[in-house]
Amino acid sequence: MTDHALEVRLLTACAVLREAGHLARDYFATREQLDVEHKGMQDLVSVADREVEELIRTRLSTAFPDDGLLGEEGGGEDSKQGALWVIDPIDGTANFLRGMPYWSVALAYLVDGRTEIGVTYDPVHDELFWARRGAGAYRNGRAIRVSDRTDPKQAVLGSTYTFKMAVEDYVRLIEGILRAGADHRRMGSTALMMCHVADGRLDGCLTMYCNSWDVIGGLLLVEEAGGAASDFLDGATLTEPNGAFGCAPGLCATVEALTGLKARS
Ligand code: IPD
Ligand code: CA
Ligand code: CA
Repeated sequence: MTDHALEVRLLTACAVLREAGHLARDYFATREQLDVEHKGMQDLVSVADREVEELIRTRLSTAFPDDGLLGEEGGGEDSKQGALWVIDPIDGTANFLRGMPYWSVALAYLVDGRTEIGVTYDPVHDELFWARRGAGAYRNGRAIRVSDRTDPKQAVLGSTYTFKMAVEDYVRLIEGILRAGADHRRMGSTALMMCHVADGRLDGCLTMYCNSWDVIGGLLLVEEAGGAASDFLDGATLTEPNGAFGCAPGLCATVEALTGLKARS
């Protein structure tokens, strides 16, 4: 794919996510009226997730009819061949439905199984994060960098949890973080936490169980902001859960030891 074709997709992705984020923000403002369904234990969905994904799908398939689509709510292709958009319409639905202002709309673009573009929008704070492989990472047009921390005792690390994973594995991870002397946050949107690693607000984000749509755009953002990140798709498909991390480079060895995962080399 040419540089121009990727640039067109980046610009389109940014515009589409702003539009989708504004739709999501309208639903957020009237969330008491939404019918909430339970997909699983502590796993919620509403019309907001479905309508936001539908908007993103419509815009992308109109602009790029030959590109594939995979979305959390609407499904789609699970292929590491060709061009593919991976969509999480609302990452942090539990926060969204409770009125907590920490959620995001997340999009990644892959070519032959390699993430080329990652875009995540935080509509509540009007912060649009994007990265293109080899071109850096940005928040609202300004270049961002991961933190330069090297001492876990000065670090704040994020994590994620889902009831699909064993409680013991999560407790072990949190114990490891705290015993390393790092402080800990679980903010509730993996995609947004990765953006906050990329811009140095968090020093790392560690997850033992997430989906491709939660994280692959964010991993590119962290790498393009000078950080270390695991390779989500190494040996895995786009529809299987996996562990992942993104962190400041000076904390990579600590985070690798905590997660048992390796940074992409
Ligand atoms: C959730 C968020 C959260 C993580 C959950 C995910 P969703 O995504 O990424 O950080 O802890 O496991 O399910 O369901 O709100 O799109
Ligand atoms: Ca998600
Ligand atoms: Ca979601």
